[in-house]
Amino acid sequence: MKNNYTLITGATSGIGYELAKLFAKDKNNLIIVGRDTERLKKVKAELEEINSIKVHSVEADLKLEAYVEKVIKFVDENNLTVENLVNNAGFGSFGHFHEVDTEKDLDMIKVNIYALTRLTKSFLPRIIELDKGGILNVASTAAFVPGPKMSVYYATKAYVLSLTEALGEELKDTNVKITALCPGPVKTNFQSRAEVMKSEKAKKYMMDAETVAYIGYKNYLKGKLIVIPGLKNKFMIQALRVAPRSAIRKIIRSVNTK
Ligand SMILES: NC(=O)c1ccc[n+]([C@@H]2O[C@H](COP(=O)([O-])OP(=O)(O)OC[C@H]3O[C@@H](n4cnc5c(N)ncnc54)[C@H](OP(=O)(O)O)[C@@H]3O)[C@@H](O)[C@H]2O)c1
Repeated sequence: MKNNYTLITGATSGIGYELAKLFAKDKNNLIIVGRDTERLKKVKAELEEINSIKVHSVEADLKLEAYVEKVIKFVDENNLTVENLVNNAGFGSFGHFHEVDTEKDLDMIKVNIYALTRLTKSFLPRIIELDKGGILNVASTAAFVPGPKMSVYYATKAYVLSLTEALGEELKDTNVKITALCPGPVKTNFQSRAEVMKSEKAKKYMMDAETVAYIGYKNYLKGKLIVIPGLKNKFMIQALRVAPRSAIRKIIRSVNTK
C-alpha cells in the first residue's frame, strides 16, 4: 500500500469520479473534494472498498477562496503528502457573453482558473521535492479555439492548456509529470449544468466519462503532456490548427448552437 495521496477536485461525478476509481484501483490513497456532502460520503465509502485504500473527503466550494485554502489546510493539518494533484472541478456557461449572468461567469473563472492555480502553487513545489507524481489538469478541446456562445468557458480552458504546457517545459529536468487532458463533449452533468445547446451533429461526438478518464489516466502515467481522447477529436483539433482563425470562429459558432 502506498502512503502518499492523490488529491482530486470534483471527484463526486463525471470525469473526476471515474479518475478517482482508476487511481484507487492502482492502490493510491485519495483526498476527494466536492460540494455535495451526501454524494461525498457515498463516493468516499465506495472508493474505500477498492483495495482498502485510505480516503479523506473535503467539502469545499472552490469558487470561494476560503474553501480553496481549507483544502490546503486540511492536507497540512493531517500531515498528508500529495503525490498527484488532479485539477478536475470545473463548469461552463452557455449563451452570448452579454447575456450570461455576470456572477456565473466570474464564479467559473474562480473555479476553472483561480482554484486550479492556487492548488498548483501550493502542491507543485512539494511534488517537485518528492521528484515523482505530478499534476493532471482537466482542460478541454475548447482550449484550442475561441468559443462563441461559450466564450468565457473556452477562455478558461485555454488558460489551463497554456499553463500546463508551460509547466511541462519547466518540469523537463525532473521526474514530475504534468498533463492537460483535453476531452471533447462528454456525457456527464456538465452539459445540463451549463445549459449547453450543441448542434445534433456535435452531440454524436459525445464520449462517455469512463473512457475519457481511462485514456487520460493511462497517458498521464506515461507522462504525455497533452491528451485528446478520441480519434474524431484528435482529427478535429489537427484540422483546426491549420484552418484560418476566421473560419474556426464560424465553425465553433455553428457547433455551439441548436
Ligand atoms: N462534459 C464535457 O463535455 C467536458 C468536456 C471537456 C472538458 N470537461 C471538463 O471536465 C471537468 C469535469 O466535468 P464533468 O464533465 O465531469 O462534469 P460534472 O459531472 O458536472 O462534474 C464536475 C465536477 O466538478 C465539481 N465542481 C463544480 N463546481 C464546483 C465548485 N464550485 N466547487 C467544487 N467542486 C465543483 C462538481 O462537484 P459538485 O457536484 O459539488 O458540483 C463535480 O464533481 C470540468 O473541468 C469540465 O470543464 C468536460
